[in-house]
Amino acid sequence: MSDLYCVFGNPIAHSRSPAIHAAFAAASGEDLRYEARLAPVDGFAAAVAEFIVDGGKGANVTVPFKEEAYRLCDRLSERAARAGAVNTLVFRNGGIAGDNTDGAGLVRDIAGNLDFALAGRRILLLGAGGAARGVIAPLLAGTPASLHIANRSADKAQQLAAAFSDIAPVGGGSFAELAGRSFDLVINATSASLSGDTLPLPAGLFAPESLAYDMMYGKGETPFLQQARGQGAGRCADGLGMLVEQAAEAFFVWRGVRPQTAGVLADLRRQIAG
Ligand code: ATR
Repeated sequence: MSDLYCVFGNPIAHSRSPAIHAAFAAASGEDLRYEARLAPVDGFAAAVAEFIVDGGKGANVTVPFKEEAYRLCDRLSERAARAGAVNTLVFRNGGIAGDNTDGAGLVRDIAGNLDFALAGRRILLLGAGGAARGVIAPLLAGTPASLHIANRSADKAQQLAAAFSDIAPVGGGSFAELAGRSFDLVINATSASLSGDTLPLPAGLFAPESLAYDMMYGKGETPFLQQARGQGAGRCADGLGMLVEQAAEAFFVWRGVRPQTAGVLADLRRQIAG
């Protein structure tokens, strides 16, 4: 029998993860099955227990269960502990180990696929929720010149910045306080577009040659990237590459094999555009 993996979420029907992992398995010759499992909002732990009984070797975790997955684990990788959230579970020797590959996926997409080196850059992270928290330590590991967090609720940005200040100085504040500053890399980790809102970003935020990166993705350019382009961002990228790269990192955690991602990303891009 092939080894069994899955992704837990709610909703989960439209998850791209089964197709991505099937493509990784086919390309790398790894013998595995990967399915989508809908967990009830109040039944995540039970769904995981059932999957382990079914012989599951590992799982991905998506919205809204990443924080609950973090609490469920017996052991955490350092990056999961820092993120306060888990997107990758490993079931081994009767225990549950948790990892978080989101930040590594973001950095691989930016530094690798987009060839945008982080070292020496001024980075602005928009948002102070779970998505933002998960990527801070991996961004700092790229030794940027600075990292600043801006959020609608400024106090949350300040608290989040303080939580990482043992690694490097991190700033935090409101959107209004960004006036007069400019950045080389601006990453949207807010969920503002889900409610149809645009962010109150002051003019002059995007330095020439800057990269605007939206952790969201969809058919066509996202609202944040449209706004960034209008405000002078030199380059724009959505989060589809991050999706594929966090999956590749999870595949590596489980299988010890790093899958090629370029073809999978190109196929996915075509499907979404179509
Ligand atoms: P996630 O796990 O996606 O990060 P979250 O923890 O609920 O979800 O965080 C959502 C983030 O998007 C927060 O930074 C939130 O700002 P607040 O902390 O001020 O709530 C931000 N956000 C959501 N809707 C927004 C909007 N309409 N305008 C600006 N920021 C918004």
